[in-house]
Amino acid sequence: MKPITTKNAFVCFNSDAYNQVNSYIKEQSPSMIFVLVDTNTHNDCLPRFLERLESHEIIVEVMEMPEGEDHKTIDICMGVWEALSEYGADRKSLLINLGGGVVTDLGGFVASTYMRGISYINFPTSLLAMVDASVGGKTGVDLGALKNQIGVINEGEIVGIDTEFLNTLPQNQMVSGFSEMLKHGLIYDKEYWNILTHLENVDISELDTLIYDSVIIKNKIVSQDITEQGLRKTLNFGHTLGHAIESYFLENADKTPLLHGEAVAVGMLLETYISTKVCGLTTSELDIITSGVFKSFPKVNIEENDIKVILELLKFDKKNSHGKINFVLLEAIGKPKIDCEVKNETILEAFEFYSNYNK
Ligand code: GLY
Repeated sequence: MKPITTKNAFVCFNSDAYNQVNSYIKEQSPSMIFVLVDTNTHNDCLPRFLERLESHEIIVEVMEMPEGEDHKTIDICMGVWEALSEYGADRKSLLINLGGGVVTDLGGFVASTYMRGISYINFPTSLLAMVDASVGGKTGVDLGALKNQIGVINEGEIVGIDTEFLNTLPQNQMVSGFSEMLKHGLIYDKEYWNILTHLENVDISELDTLIYDSVIIKNKIVSQDITEQGLRKTLNFGHTLGHAIESYFLENADKTPLLHGEAVAVGMLLETYISTKVCGLTTSELDIITSGVFKSFPKVNIEENDIKVILELLKFDKKNSHGKINFVLLEAIGKPKIDCEVKNETILEAFEFYSNYNK
């Protein structure tokens, strides 16, 4: 698969990903190399990664953080910054983030801020990080329950996608990543959406192609608007309500936390319903989208009391401006509309539609 050129970097795949990283190290000769992993990727992915890193004189140190969204915090960043400092990392050091979206987001943020910025490379190991989090330079951490409130946009040098890592990924994490792929179809490419929603028994080469296509879509959007002034906002389809739901489930002791993609799937369905009320999405496309998403995602139980708090959390969405909540909606599959205002009663109706929908 040919590398995909992004605004300031490039995304490369499988054996080429290792070739590019090895060439980069040879050419740039970093003073030290740090590999950030979490507890899972330390065991499951690091040996394969290190085996493919060519031997050189440069010291390689591995730093491990605990796995999971609840560790995407400034406290963990403090630990990584301190470790870098204790190891003697300087401005010519290189950080390689080997993990899912939490590791690539947090590691990217640590690298972008340590000594005002050192170089970094993302090696995503989850489907979600491959098709979304590791591409486009968004880095950061959560602020309490609020997702990604602290961060910077700063692209790394390379994104290396080795799809073999997906063999170590639990099924629910695969499905979670699939939700961002569905989103790419919904906001950009109806044909891609149709392919994704008619898949049966995907083999690895087919999956590679689908991942490649998703990265192409994401990159086409991001490279035109890296700082999210307009077009890039379309990537937030499903995320306004999705993030609020994810935050609520993460913080509420009575709920089992949802994976990011699971929450986004609910958010996409709610925002699809809202689209029929606000910007003319047809009911036949509502049916197509609803059955397409429910094919992969079971219904999540959301009670009336939950909804009140979820609506409160919308006030903290990063797309808000001048006190207004700005939704990304769909006029049709492949035709998103940004900066849409939505009445509270329409959001409540959407929750009712979601809860009453019979698969
Ligand atoms: N994950 C959305 C974006 O990168 O803009």
